[in-house]
Amino acid sequence: MTTSDLFIDGRFVPAATGRTFTTIDPSTGDPIADVAHAGPHDVAAAVSAARAALDGPWSRMPAAERGRLITRLADLVEANADELAELESLDGGKPIRNTRAMDVPAAAAQFRYFGGWPTKIEGETIPVAVPDTLCYTRKEPVGVCAQIIPWNFPLLMAAWKLGPALAAGCTVVVKPAEQTPLTTLRLAGLIAEAGFPAGTVNMLTGDGGTGAALADHPGVDKIAFTGSTAVGREIGAKAGARLTRVTLELGGKSPNIILPDADLDAAIAGSYQGVYFNSGQACNAASRLYAHRSVFDQVIEGLLVRIKEARVGQALDPSTELGPLVSAGQYQRVRGYIRDGIAEGARLRAGEVPGEPDGGFFVQPTLFTDVAPDMRIHREEIFGPVLVATPFDTVDEVVRQANGSEYGLAAGVWTRNLGDAHTLAARLSAGSIYLNTWAPGDPAAPFGGIRASGIGREMGRAGLDAYLEPKTVWTNLTSR
Ligand code: NAI
Ligand code: MG
Repeated sequence: MTTSDLFIDGRFVPAATGRTFTTIDPSTGDPIADVAHAGPHDVAAAVSAARAALDGPWSRMPAAERGRLITRLADLVEANADELAELESLDGGKPIRNTRAMDVPAAAAQFRYFGGWPTKIEGETIPVAVPDTLCYTRKEPVGVCAQIIPWNFPLLMAAWKLGPALAAGCTVVVKPAEQTPLTTLRLAGLIAEAGFPAGTVNMLTGDGGTGAALADHPGVDKIAFTGSTAVGREIGAKAGARLTRVTLELGGKSPNIILPDADLDAAIAGSYQGVYFNSGQACNAASRLYAHRSVFDQVIEGLLVRIKEARVGQALDPSTELGPLVSAGQYQRVRGYIRDGIAEGARLRAGEVPGEPDGGFFVQPTLFTDVAPDMRIHREEIFGPVLVATPFDTVDEVVRQANGSEYGLAAGVWTRNLGDAHTLAARLSAGSIYLNTWAPGDPAAPFGGIRASGIGREMGRAGLDAYLEPKTVWTNLTSR
């Protein structure tokens, strides 16, 4: 087993304490590698390296050169795509067909998109009423950013966060999730190879304690976090107390509505993918299905046919569609929800109560009907391949149900009626609305949530603005 080091100030170094932890392969439960476990000492070193780069070579670099480096990183991700996809599948249990087709190309696309931004970040000249005055704005980098990454899309979430931060001229300390550190560390190698000045990007592997130490560090100007709502609230409270800038991308329980006039084949295929993709471990999973009563049985039948054909298996097997869950902890959590749903009286239409894990953490695609609104499986984010489906009679009723969640990340509607589609797009409260589709994405399109799903947006111009601070400059033109 190899040991992987932290990446601080352009060098790979062990943790100051020498501590390590083991990352495992969720397809087998076997250990893959020992990884350095960063503590407060390493956090301090990384933040100080990021500060020095911010005050030094990185801020002096012309915007065009900054863009060129980010674009070179996109090229290097593409050039190393096979290795990154295999590492991602090995470490996180994500099917290799998905990491090849989606995670890695989408990460490269983020860097390519944000590589174009540095030369387009412009301030404004403001037509103020004060006579003989020039007033303009500069857009400056927020500063040293702490970026805490989840395990469900490890490389892609690192790219979502690094792209805009680097484009804005910030420097960064990244903390990948303890379940999936390997692609982040490989990305550190590519960042060094691309030629970014030392300290511009630092990578600290470790657990929640490492993340907390980073969020606590007074030298951090902005925290960007993706993960659970519980930790998001904790980080938001810390940021509030210190008035650190913060963006939070948290959980969801996203409603997916099928109207009676929908193209049912497309709606069934989209609803299936929407919830079971990545074994349900997606913040914007279509985990609450509402189908009109006139088509409900047909939709359920269609889903059951697909579920029967689902290929659940080892992540590195090219025929696998659903890999294992990421960890024993996640497996037990999802198992608990399935048990709970049955105990609360919901009807299990597909799947089973998983036993004790035997090697990998596999959970079959699971479908519940006869679900009451107050059941935990209907209210809480499960983050596993578990769908709850409910019929509805009127549009007003389904809008009330759909919006009756503490979350607000995404919502979808399947219909052939344009008017209904756009009326519902306005009435549903969520950061993203999917009409006759589920969860396409593009680096130019903002993504994020409302309420308990988070604060702020990632990707697009909105995502870039989250890393910029406008400064207003007033000039008295008559001063001699
Ligand atoms: P988590 O929120 O604990 O972990 C996410 C990241 O935050 C990891 O890098 C972790 O090391 C770090 N972290 C943990 N505690 C921290 C703290 N106190 N301060 C700073 N950083 C901290 O999520 P976990 O436990 O892995 O998963 C639990 C549930 O969270 C999942 O079942 C799912 O519902 C939700 N989740 C949502 C994600 C999303 O994409 N929105 C991603 C991952 C989890
Ligand atoms: Mg792992």
